[in-house]
Amino acid sequence: MSRKPIIIDTDPGIDDAVALAIALFNEELDVRLITTVNGNVGLEKVTYNTLRLLKFFDKQIPVAKGASTPLIKDPVDASNVHGETGMDGYDFEEPDESLLLDEHAVNAMHKEIMNSQEKITLVPIGPLTNIAVLFKLYPEVKENIAEIVLMGGSTGRGNVTVMAEFNIYADPEAAKIVFSSGLPIVMAGLDVGQKALVYPEDSEELKDMNDTGNMIYHLFKKYRGGSFNKGLKMYDSCAVAYLLKPNLFETVDTYVDIELNAEFTKGATIVDLKGYLKQQNNAKVCIDIDADEFKKWFMENIKKCK
Ligand code: BDR
Ligand code: CA
Repeated sequence: MSRKPIIIDTDPGIDDAVALAIALFNEELDVRLITTVNGNVGLEKVTYNTLRLLKFFDKQIPVAKGASTPLIKDPVDASNVHGETGMDGYDFEEPDESLLLDEHAVNAMHKEIMNSQEKITLVPIGPLTNIAVLFKLYPEVKENIAEIVLMGGSTGRGNVTVMAEFNIYADPEAAKIVFSSGLPIVMAGLDVGQKALVYPEDSEELKDMNDTGNMIYHLFKKYRGGSFNKGLKMYDSCAVAYLLKPNLFETVDTYVDIELNAEFTKGATIVDLKGYLKQQNNAKVCIDIDADEFKKWFMENIKKCK
């Protein structure tokens, strides 16, 4: 079976770190490139975190640094959730800087996509700035992209404002460009991320599972200000889970737009489940997840890591 070629665009981020672990050690995925974007913390920190993770995993995947600010709005961060470094809680070794490409993420993605024999799947698990710039600068890449499977958005309420989810809120204009790109999009948002929970007993099991499990256990101790005991949300792993086991999810084909000009709801995903807007469907939205099966899948996949 041939491995699915993917590019992960990310802002590690504790749940990003977990999603990267799963993707990098899964035999069905071929991670061709990792690009970084300002998000959970600033661009320098998320890039450093990505390189620290690759050193930890002993994986030689090229990394390219992308956008340091959103397209238009001022940056926001989520250091209250992931800590000041973006990955507080574990003492990583210094990274191997040689994996860092000497070109912008958008140019690196362009090259990788255009040179690929098979269509590439994009997996954005941070704000969508890099992907939006890619489509504006190099629209020809769309021809060689299979689909976009992203973590972001919500059919209901938000997790950073009343109605907006962090990745979309952080760069709503970019999200608008991506959702109107015409490419097939799978949206794994809060509806599923908030049910993809890891509980303290699971974390304890991870601690002694292997090196990755142990590293994740220590990150989890700091995740969301140490709310370890309440169940931790594996948002970004949902996008990777969809790639590998889509039947974990219940989905709906629908139209999604992004609220840009509103006092209270900027960055909300307008998921038109009832067709009020009379627009063509542009996304497959994950509206539910089998939480027990997800947990099993999650633990099995961390077991495959180093
Ligand atoms: C998303 O926001 C970030 O804090 C997480 O890494 C995830 O990608 C959840 O809203
Ligand atoms: Ca993320």
